[in-house]
Amino acid sequence: MSKSWKTKLIHSDAKIPEGYHSLASPTFRGSTTVFPLASAVNDTWDQWKVGYTYGLYGTPTVLELAARICELESGTRTILTPGGQAGISLINFALLQSGDHILVPASIYYPNRKLATRLLSRFGIATDFYDPEIGAGIASLIQKNTRLIWCESPGSITMEVQDLPAIVTAAHRQNVRVVLDNTWSAGILLDAFAHGVDVTLQAVTKYIGGHSDLLLGSITVRDDALYQRIGAAQQVIGCAVSPDDCSLALRGLQTLAVRLSAIESSALSIARWLNSRPEVELVLHPALPSCPGHELWKRDFLGSSGVFSIVFRPGPTQQQVHAFVDALKLFQVGYSWGGVASLAVAYNIGRIPGRPPYEHRIVRLNIGLESTDDLIADLEQALPNLSALTDASGVRP
Ligand SMILES: Cc1ncc(COP(=O)(O)O)c(C=O)c1O
Repeated sequence: MSKSWKTKLIHSDAKIPEGYHSLASPTFRGSTTVFPLASAVNDTWDQWKVGYTYGLYGTPTVLELAARICELESGTRTILTPGGQAGISLINFALLQSGDHILVPASIYYPNRKLATRLLSRFGIATDFYDPEIGAGIASLIQKNTRLIWCESPGSITMEVQDLPAIVTAAHRQNVRVVLDNTWSAGILLDAFAHGVDVTLQAVTKYIGGHSDLLLGSITVRDDALYQRIGAAQQVIGCAVSPDDCSLALRGLQTLAVRLSAIESSALSIARWLNSRPEVELVLHPALPSCPGHELWKRDFLGSSGVFSIVFRPGPTQQQVHAFVDALKLFQVGYSWGGVASLAVAYNIGRIPGRPPYEHRIVRLNIGLESTDDLIADLEQALPNLSALTDASGVRP
């Protein structure tokens, strides 16, 4: 059939050499995938069962990243989402229905809490927040309609390490599933499935991405029933991921071991140095005895990553804590973590009954790949700002 140049733009006969083998995983983009016959058209989302049917359910690049995260976490299947928070939402919407109840640690990543209080509540799902150090005591909070227990270990900002085996035992005794936000460990430093967890969530944005230039999440499940439930929900919610982002994450995986090991050792040195400073009341780094749940970290984790918090001794005002953060020259101020640049964020967690009384004295650090000595020098030159004179409005004269 002869073709006009316009048709050739769409249906070309041009040939290129075959047999290209590269070390890099190719990036397959695509929405439509083509079926061989009219009778072969199929909208099944599970591409492992039927092959490729539609880009929303994953191109080979997406499925390669999913399979590799699943292999690292020793799960049954992994589903990728457009960010860690999207993964949190998908888990809840896939596994819950009106009338259900969930338990969420008070130390949970704040948007996870907001999802429960502001959105799930509108769909008739009730949430109780529990003390992250509750351990086996969780049994007394489980109700007839409790379906999920969320865990995050260590918790966001306040860094409590949880007794996962105790929580899992209590939950499974009453047929409740346990979901773990395993982002801090990069899915590597804590073997969640060996500890009995049913579903893990990871913000791939952090350590696997590793360079602060992508947003992705992963949900890894213990069994096929959970995969079918979450996969079917993802199809109708439609939260597909970008193959370009997956390609960056595949590249990030290749250097994850060296980045994690350099970050672990730098963060430990900085945490120990801060622990020796008179301005600091507590270093909330799971590998230090001053962190709640340190013994559990020693028992369950294979190492530590680069996010931890410091709590200053009472005295500095919130403005002085901000002045300390603003005086840092290498540490930048910004959300997210797991990249190569060090970050510092000051929080005011107030004084809430049952929560640690850190108020405005807590600063979370993300340790990147700069020289450890330079980062310590940066912290040292900024510390005097905590006691710098301020006038009544908190402004330094
Ligand atoms: C513990 C934890 N879980 C989940 C998320 C959400 O990840 P994302 O930013 O990819 O939505 C974050 C992000 O900061 C986090 O710190």
